[in-house]
Amino acid sequence: MVLKRLRLHDFRSYQQLSLTPPSGVTVFVGENGAGKTNLLEAIHLCCLGRSHRTSNDRDMIREGAETCAVHAKVETNMGTDEVGVRLYAKQRSKKMIYVNGKIVGRIGELMGHMTCVMFSPEDLEIIKGGPANRRRYLDMLLSQCQPAYFYAIQTYLSVLKQRNALLKAIARGESRRQLDVWDEQLAAACVPIVRLRQQTAIKLNALVKKHYAAISSREHEILTVRLSSQLGQSMEPQEELARLLRQSRDDDLRRLSTSCGPHRDDLDIFLKGHEIKAQGSQGQMRTAALALRLSEMDILTDMQNEPPLLLLDDVLSELDIGRRSMLILQIRNVQTLITCTDMKDLKGAKPDCVLTVDDGFVR
Ligand SMILES: Nc1ncnc2c1ncn2[C@@H]1O[C@H](COP(=O)(O)OP(=O)(O)OP(=O)(O)O)[C@@H](O)[C@H]1O
Ligand SMILES: [Mg+2]
Repeated sequence: MVLKRLRLHDFRSYQQLSLTPPSGVTVFVGENGAGKTNLLEAIHLCCLGRSHRTSNDRDMIREGAETCAVHAKVETNMGTDEVGVRLYAKQRSKKMIYVNGKIVGRIGELMGHMTCVMFSPEDLEIIKGGPANRRRYLDMLLSQCQPAYFYAIQTYLSVLKQRNALLKAIARGESRRQLDVWDEQLAAACVPIVRLRQQTAIKLNALVKKHYAAISSREHEILTVRLSSQLGQSMEPQEELARLLRQSRDDDLRRLSTSCGPHRDDLDIFLKGHEIKAQGSQGQMRTAALALRLSEMDILTDMQNEPPLLLLDDVLSELDIGRRSMLILQIRNVQTLITCTDMKDLKGAKPDCVLTVDDGFVR
């Protein structure tokens, strides 16, 4: 997949911008705060309909503007695709998504036209942070692979929200009768999520092992991942969740929240058999984060029969020389956009194009 053109209008620090990156490696160099990450964020928005660093869409609208727009043209094996997103400052205005010139009603229809893998310093949180970070990693990966997963997770979370609202209403005196209906719907909604997460965790386990070994060149350090789920490896997740919900109903009514289901899943990550979060060094955790992103790239490449766009935000400066050149070796033949504050961070990479970013301008 090749990004042929990116256009921004009132996006973050950019009033107007049009970029036509080459198909190889493009480097954006500039001082802190120059607007480098903003560019990669705009690409992420076109791929997934959301930012990689904020859940508030309005943050992306240039200060003082009412609306912002991002438009991208990509060339894939299947032909040319054009996607766009427009955001509005007014709270009630929804975002508008465009695919090949038409407005589409659901974000899911955007997924898959343009795909990316973003490496950023915050990836360390996938390793070190709470389970929500790892669920988000899985959800983003699977949504880009299959829009059906994205719809499934949206349905599941909406049923969960209604069940939780009902638990609170019951505490205020409402009848319990409706609870059976929501339990049934929640159990049905979990099925595609559980299946796809289980399959993906198995694929990931094989891939992270390979990438970790290649980047670290330490063969005795084996990285493994495993889906940790209350539903275990159940072949019948619907029946299993229905049973767990029945079992925990009194608890849930007391706590006013749902204690069982894939919203409690985690991805356990082990290095040499020990939880990396508890025992790993900073460098080991950073390498594990890279291994997860490289594996994401493999899974997407396999799914689409071509690699996604590769976005490296400020990650090379944090690696030692050996790890940096191993990473650069892995990303050949993929269109790559790299940001850095200093060209010397790129030693070993051979960019096809170097652009300077400065306060809302790219030259
Ligand atoms: N909504 C917005 N409107 C106007 N300017 C914004 C908006 N959001 C962010 N900015 C500006 O964008 C700049 C930050 O951009 P960005 O995060 O891309 O920097 P960067 O080049 O990646 O910096 P670093 O090297 O520190 O990561 C800041 O100067 C900030 O004021
Ligand atoms: Mg940045």
